[in-house]
Amino acid sequence: MTRRKFLDTTLAGGATLIAGGSTMIFAANSPAVTEPGTSSVFRLGGDLPVNRLGFGAMRITGEGIWGWPADRGNALKVLRRVVELGVNLIDTADAYGPETSELLIAEALHPYPKDLVIATKGGLTRPGPGQWVPNGRPEYLTQCVEKSLKRLRLERIDLYQLHRIDPKVPMEESLGALKKMQEAGKIRHVGLSEVSPEEIDRAHKVLPIVSVQNQYNIGNRRWEKTLTYCEKERLGFMPWSPIGGNRGLNDNALEAAARDYHASVVQLALAWLLHRSPVMLPIPGTSSVTHLEENMAAAKLKLTPEDWKRVDALAS
Ligand SMILES: NC(=O)c1ccc[n+]([C@@H]2O[C@H](COP(=O)([O-])OP(=O)(O)OC[C@H]3O[C@@H](n4cnc5c(N)ncnc54)[C@H](OP(=O)(O)O)[C@@H]3O)[C@@H](O)[C@H]2O)c1
Repeated sequence: MTRRKFLDTTLAGGATLIAGGSTMIFAANSPAVTEPGTSSVFRLGGDLPVNRLGFGAMRITGEGIWGWPADRGNALKVLRRVVELGVNLIDTADAYGPETSELLIAEALHPYPKDLVIATKGGLTRPGPGQWVPNGRPEYLTQCVEKSLKRLRLERIDLYQLHRIDPKVPMEESLGALKKMQEAGKIRHVGLSEVSPEEIDRAHKVLPIVSVQNQYNIGNRRWEKTLTYCEKERLGFMPWSPIGGNRGLNDNALEAAARDYHASVVQLALAWLLHRSPVMLPIPGTSSVTHLEENMAAAKLKLTPEDWKRVDALAS
């Protein structure tokens, strides 16, 4: 069986593979999969179902998240494979490229599958490669929503996230603009990024918030309190840099555990996130079809409770 065929079978068909010892990997449709941390679907805002393992479309742009990718055909292939593999949550932002990530998504996938949720963001400007500057002025955000709608060829954005709270603009004013866009039918749900529980509470006074996107992974749990808040309030928590971003996850003990479970470190890190919380919606990014297939197979990684204890102890 080819690697592609194997992945198609395990991902779509729900095959079960026993990988020796006490550990079972790539199990699907088994009763154990119904335990809370591994339930595969989450309802954003209570009414928008998404498969919990999503895709981050920041890495399909050029170097420094700037401009077009060197191989545009490859970027389109990655996006089409994302959907083939059953992903129905794609995260992007007007700032990725800028503009090119949203444009590539539309080029690759429009007309969109009915169940596809595209989550975009506004509120960060790009003066140059690698540079990110907040702008939360209401008139700017209003224009951002209009432009994302055009680039994505949508009439309504399912999830619009405020990319950053601008320290120069009261949060209430920025969110007030998004509330107006929501009332006009141009946004379905609103999310925040890099926020504390106190900031979510403040935002909630302006409009309902359904998701939070903060940096979080097995080696970086700085936003643990925000995750706990999201669990309590049933908000989706989309960890960015779920596999450590550019730097990756350099941890010898984690690598040893992954080897024992016949998985890659990236797969173990993604499986741990899904196991960690039922509100967790990881959005790993890649510019490679091979990496994408490896990452998506992580949803099938299945460990025993003792194995999870070992991995939990490695999470810092
Ligand atoms: N809200 C925010 O402020 C914010 C900030 C950053 C990112 N995000 C979102 O979060 C998403 C994910 O974050 P991220 O891209 O920074 O971090 P990430 O998903 O943790 O890591 C992506 C990096 O890992 C590499 N990679 C992916 N799969 C791999 C594999 N199987 N084996 C080895 N390397 C692999 C990618 O390189 P290759 O391309 O070579 O695979 C890329 O360099 C982004 O796409 C974006 O949607 C949001």
